[in-house]
Amino acid sequence: MTTYAVTGASGPFGHHAVTSLIEAGVLASDIVALVRTPSKVQDLADQGVQVRAADYSDAATLPDALAGVDTLLLVSGSEVGQRVPQHTNVIDAAKAAGVSRIAYTSAPRADTTELALAPEHKATEEALRASGIAFTILRNGWYIENYLGQVEQYRATGEIVGAAGDGLVSGAPRADFAEAAAAALVQSGHENAVYELGGAPAFTMTDLAAALSTATGTTIVYRDVTPDELVATLEGVGLDSGTAGFVTALDVATKRGDLFTDSGDLQRLLGRESTPLADAIAAALK
Ligand SMILES: NC(=O)c1ccc[n+]([C@@H]2O[C@H](COP(=O)([O-])OP(=O)(O)OC[C@H]3O[C@@H](n4cnc5c(N)ncnc54)[C@H](OP(=O)(O)O)[C@@H]3O)[C@@H](O)[C@H]2O)c1
Repeated sequence: MTTYAVTGASGPFGHHAVTSLIEAGVLASDIVALVRTPSKVQDLADQGVQVRAADYSDAATLPDALAGVDTLLLVSGSEVGQRVPQHTNVIDAAKAAGVSRIAYTSAPRADTTELALAPEHKATEEALRASGIAFTILRNGWYIENYLGQVEQYRATGEIVGAAGDGLVSGAPRADFAEAAAAALVQSGHENAVYELGGAPAFTMTDLAAALSTATGTTIVYRDVTPDELVATLEGVGLDSGTAGFVTALDVATKRGDLFTDSGDLQRLLGRESTPLADAIAAALK
């Protein structure tokens, strides 16, 4: 019997990873959902999943949380700037608890990319390697959901404004990446592997606009602008300069190809094609 644990199980990624483990045939009682607030995952407890309290920032919570765990999915935290010490706390506690393998949700080409979000992932990957625990690094591509929070605004203006040019994004719905993470936990042969996970076919922002037009019945076009123009546009609609710069840097990275991969790793882990853009949009807008 293997005991699996998933951190961040109160977030959509971790929650989906837990349900994917159950769908893959793991007994709910062999799964530990690690959360800061147990009441957020009452539905998992109701299915028989063990729910334990764990805060990445509070090392004292981690030994009990990880007791008896064999295989751990460390879902990267959401508190940008604090994640290296937080993730290191979890890795250290996992080592002390005798966890035999840790899968970690990282970022595309975390060790070499110029993506602004990557340094914390790179440092976590290094901590994982240094721990001596077997690892599986899941370098998740961009969630398609990242592009769907502003659909109403796109419909109202009839355009998506960006500086991503014809950059290709190997996006997939979050659920695909979570299902792949569960597969990497339950299958053998993923020890000390690094996967570049991306959806296929990749899409440009022009493709995204076309797919949103079809899905919403409203014509939406992609309008490419320079990075400086994008910063000014974003500030003009009320974003602070830090956020405007961050969003623009992501577009510049997209144009550079930082969010593209044709590795096929996601599809191999899923054992199927990843969900196409149009299907992901339809499901999200339902
Ligand atoms: N590839 C992408 O496009 C993409 C996009 C967004 C995020 N991400 C990364 O993927 C991760 C999972 O995605 P998601 O959509 O589920 O993110 P999310 O909705 O932000 O959920 C983050 C999860 O991390 C937990 N968490 C944060 N800080 C914690 C701490 N100090 N101790 C314990 N748990 C903590 C949260 O717990 P609470 O419920 O207690 O807050 C929540 O369960 C994110 O955290 C982020 O690192 C990737």
